[in-house]
Amino acid sequence: MGRRRTSKPLRVLSLFTGAGGLDLGFELAGCVTVEAVDNDHESCKTLRHNRPEWNVFEGDIRDYKPSVDDIDVVIGGPPCQGFSSAGRGNPSDPRNFLWREYFRIVEDVKPRAIVIENVSGLKHKRNGDHLSGIIAALEEQGYDFAMGVLNAAEYGVPQARKRLFVIGLKTGIPTLPAPTTPNRPATVRDAIEDLQGNFDTALNHQPPIHAVHVSDRWSLLKPGETDPNYRRARLDFDKPSHTIRAGGGYGPNGNHLGGFHPPIHPVEPRQLTVREAARIQTFPDDWILKGSKTAQGRQIGNAVPVLLAEAVANHVVSLLNSKSR
Ligand SMILES: C[S@@+](CC[C@H](N)C(=O)[O-])C[C@H]1O[C@@H](n2cnc3c(N)ncnc32)[C@H](O)[C@@H]1O
Repeated sequence: MGRRRTSKPLRVLSLFTGAGGLDLGFELAGCVTVEAVDNDHESCKTLRHNRPEWNVFEGDIRDYKPSVDDIDVVIGGPPCQGFSSAGRGNPSDPRNFLWREYFRIVEDVKPRAIVIENVSGLKHKRNGDHLSGIIAALEEQGYDFAMGVLNAAEYGVPQARKRLFVIGLKTGIPTLPAPTTPNRPATVRDAIEDLQGNFDTALNHQPPIHAVHVSDRWSLLKPGETDPNYRRARLDFDKPSHTIRAGGGYGPNGNHLGGFHPPIHPVEPRQLTVREAARIQTFPDDWILKGSKTAQGRQIGNAVPVLLAEAVANHVVSLLNSKSR
């Protein structure tokens, strides 16, 4: 359509922005987030603190009307609580229908490309109505799309994290990015070994406090082993991490706990700190997470790993810059 020269940074409208993992990947690919939307106060504080130049709409997406134009790419991960295979997925959970808001906004701003990230559980049979709704919306709005599950460990991220991605293009047939590090996954050691014992040196890196009987149990776990009572694994320094989640650990009676319950450190009898979890999600150390420790952990667990986001973003940029478009 020749709206802008391809040498200018692509303009991104970011929906359900959270801690900004997807946005940071687009930024590394040379794009600029011009507006971000989230209804979580702590996430908005994080975004405003780290990128005061972004226009952050704090509120329910159902009340949001874009205040920017000339958007090249709309990105976002609609909430996935109902889809998730980690919890008791409920397809009628009202949070599942927020993807309709995503397409209301896409229809309004008419970007050249769209990116959706979600849990791979969206592909489960029980979520079929949502998936077919998303596909119908893409088709109605004239987007060709590629859809598939990407494993972050194949894109330089020290974490086995599988997530569904959709890339849609107004012009041309999209593909998904090829793995950038298919042969040697990054490890937990690469990500966090230097932080060990250095609680004073990094931000969001306060030592966790556990009851003595809990740290005693965890000191006996071998790398890769899971504590059945707490359903939490001790990480192995020489492998990618288990998936970092937004919360939802388990107590000794199998009861579901709210809060930040990341995996157990490979050699210390404690859970990871927020900064260690952020490293495993490939966030830069100068990206400060705001809010309570639980809120910080939730933001990190919900995020798209920055290096995976960068691979997706580089791919979208090259698709949009290729001659045929
Ligand atoms: C999976 S997280 C997105 C993570 C983000 N893509 C990243 O890479 O950091 C989903 C986000 O949607 C936000 N959200 C949930 N319901 C919302 C609503 N009704 N309106 C606006 N934002 C909402 C949540 O606060 C959460 O931050």
